[in-house]
Amino acid sequence: MDFFDSHAHYNDERFLENRDNLIKEMYENEITNIVCSGYNLDSSTDAINLSKSFPHILATCGISPNDITQDVDKDVEKIELLAKEDKVVAIGEIGLDYYWNKDNKEKQREVFIAQIDIANKLNLPIVIHTREATVDTIEILKENLPVKRGVFHCCPLNQELIKEGLKLGFYISFSGNITFKNAKSEDCIKLVPLDRLLIETDSPYLSPEPFRGKTNTSLNVKLVAKKIAEVKELSLSEVAKITNENAKRIFEIK
Ligand code: NI
Repeated sequence: MDFFDSHAHYNDERFLENRDNLIKEMYENEITNIVCSGYNLDSSTDAINLSKSFPHILATCGISPNDITQDVDKDVEKIELLAKEDKVVAIGEIGLDYYWNKDNKEKQREVFIAQIDIANKLNLPIVIHTREATVDTIEILKENLPVKRGVFHCCPLNQELIKEGLKLGFYISFSGNITFKNAKSEDCIKLVPLDRLLIETDSPYLSPEPFRGKTNTSLNVKLVAKKIAEVKELSLSEVAKITNENAKRIFEIK
């Protein structure tokens, strides 16, 4: 089986020790593609460097809503340059986060839109981070619809958001959060048609059950796939195959 982890952060400091071996180990254990996602300038640069070192690593670059500093406008300009590198498959993660940052909502929206513009200029999809900002996220996407669309990464288990995202043509990527007890994820999983479904780990965060609280790795994308297989009444290999094909389609990987 080949699993595609559509979102992870091997650029996170928690992985600094021993990460080359860890990334190789993923490939040896059926994780044949991993998108390493940037969230600010340094992590985006690092993601690109990893993509150059490892054939199975792809990169995204972007400024996340939780990484908005005084220099953000200059940072966004630099993202446009970085995004021209070969293995950059999307602009992200970008979006709105009103859970962690309530005091700069206007700036978050502006930076989100500026980066959608970059994606359109470079003909790339976007990877969206959205938390407690459903209404504004959907409104921005409607008014600034990215030509290549993109992915709701670590999609919140919010049926309204999922329905609107699907209507606009986006893919829905589920992470370990669907395995949490009391998550009531089944109805959300059922909402997503098979051809719009992606799986991810968001490593090192969000370890699925039964590893909740521990450092996550891409190996656990299999547990996310297993949960989806149960709900969709498919085999694990069918979910692996479908999500692999979907990821290759949205990120335009040959
Ligand atoms: Ni992430």
